[in-house]
Amino acid sequence: MRLEAKRVSKTFRSRRGGHAVSAVKEASFVAQPGQFVAIVGESGSGKSTLARLLLYLIEPTSGSVELDGAPVNRRDRAAAISYRRNVQAVLQDPAGSLNPRKRIDQTIGEVIRLHDIARRAADVRRKTEEVLDIVGMSPAERFLDRYPHELSGGQRQRVLIARAIALNPKIIVADEAISALDASVKAGVLKVMVDLKERLGVGYVFITHDLPVVRKVADYVYVMKAGEIVEHGEKDKIFDSPAHPYTRMLLDSAPVLPSHRPPAHEEGIR
Ligand SMILES: Nc1ncnc2c1ncn2[C@@H]1O[C@H](COP(=O)(O)OP(=O)(O)OP(=O)(O)O)[C@@H](O)[C@H]1O
Ligand SMILES: [Mg+2]
Repeated sequence: MRLEAKRVSKTFRSRRGGHAVSAVKEASFVAQPGQFVAIVGESGSGKSTLARLLLYLIEPTSGSVELDGAPVNRRDRAAAISYRRNVQAVLQDPAGSLNPRKRIDQTIGEVIRLHDIARRAADVRRKTEEVLDIVGMSPAERFLDRYPHELSGGQRQRVLIARAIALNPKIIVADEAISALDASVKAGVLKVMVDLKERLGVGYVFITHDLPVVRKVADYVYVMKAGEIVEHGEKDKIFDSPAHPYTRMLLDSAPVLPSHRPPAHEEGIR
């Protein structure tokens, strides 16, 4: 399977006909099962917009998004469901991605039933508990009857990852999916994601500001600046010999541990 964006662009127009924002400009991108592809770039560079285009949550202004060479057809309901199963999303805003009126077991159970992963109530429950365990929400039964507002932000994010994993997708588009998690939980969830890649061949489109994480887990990296992909390549190539000055700037400005930061009085010297 191959998920591909071909010279895809997205322009947002303001309602009153004012200025338009070119959020993504002629971006070409490929994701495949078994590959951990990272998208990096400063805030506002268009990463989330590209993710939404890849997920077909928004329509491109021009260009196309294709699965195995076929443009995604949103009007074909069966095709849309199959697309959604193969390409799952874990988006940036956990509050907006979970239905506040549904318990966790309902939220996860309904996608399991919709996509026919399991049917009998006991099987649905077993699968739900299994994926909650995977993302470190154990014992799962403690969380099943909670509502989103009864969870922490990190727990909501983990529920989203669990729900995505439940469908055995081929590709997961994860937009800052682990950024808000505590360091220890983050490492655990990241390990789960890498395990799924290695064991089941799940592919990732992984959007993050966390360059150390990219360095650790990515296979391939795309660098975005002002809506454009300015550079892409194998992870080692990007980190060891970045070609674009913007990539070098990003790598140089990567956050360092507080203890490694120069004392305030030295900062002006550099
Ligand atoms: N629905 C929208 N309507 C209008 N403009 C939008 C919309 N969504 C995004 N934009 C604009 O498009 C540009 C790219 O936004 P996007 O959210 O894709 O950036 P990003 O790289 O994900 O940033 P961040 O790292 O802060 O999440 C920004 O200028 C943003 O203001
Ligand atoms: Mg974003």
